[in-house]
Amino acid sequence: MNAPDATPIREVSAAELGAMTPAAFVALLRSECSRPGRGMADHPVLAALESGAVTLPQLRLLIEQWYLHNRNMLPWIGQIYVSCPHEEVRTALVKNLAEECLGIFTGTKAHPELMLDFAAAIGMDPAAIRRTAQLADSRRVTDYFEFMAKCRPWYVPLAAIGIGLETFVPEALTRMRAALKKNYAIPDDKLVFWTMHITTDIEHGDEGTDMVARHAVTPEARKLVYDATVETSVLYFRLWNMYTMAGRQ
Ligand SMILES: [Fe+2]
Repeated sequence: MNAPDATPIREVSAAELGAMTPAAFVALLRSECSRPGRGMADHPVLAALESGAVTLPQLRLLIEQWYLHNRNMLPWIGQIYVSCPHEEVRTALVKNLAEECLGIFTGTKAHPELMLDFAAAIGMDPAAIRRTAQLADSRRVTDYFEFMAKCRPWYVPLAAIGIGLETFVPEALTRMRAALKKNYAIPDDKLVFWTMHITTDIEHGDEGTDMVARHAVTPEARKLVYDATVETSVLYFRLWNMYTMAGRQ
């Protein structure tokens, strides 16, 4: 299956974005990030997992490249901490990193390590995955996090993560988890990455929205957030679509 062509990105002016209420602006971001060829919402891999059409080599490639992105993007969360001037946001970022790197609040472990536990359950070698290079469609999304963290105001990558990605996590990962359990016979203790994110991202659902309402208020700030959030969703779609690159065996 090939990726559907991404919907052309709708250009919206800074003035138009700046005139919106925060709620209308967030609703526009969510709807743009839900279009075909963008983000996690109803991504083709979900239906393919639910029907059992994803082969083991395809699932392995997806997990390998998704793990590498998750692991390699974490330093850019630290970069956002450095550039954010607001103490309460920095504190939230430290908590986020402590959870991502140690699983400290959920009593689990580093989130990338949870992905490796799953990888082992589908017959992969975690040590080999750690040494693997990122392929282009995985590298591009990681590189875009680097770009946003270094070249855009601190709230831009946080909006891209919080609104463009995390708000779609509970539904997408719930579907993925159920399909992995049903069609691939993965036991619950190897699905902690999914179970934990479904719960925590429901709890964090409004944080990105609140942050945009408070900090991305000028037309120029809104434009930077809009462009980067939609772009992140395009790149993330391609990351999840990497399963189509593996041989069907
Ligand atoms: Fe995580």
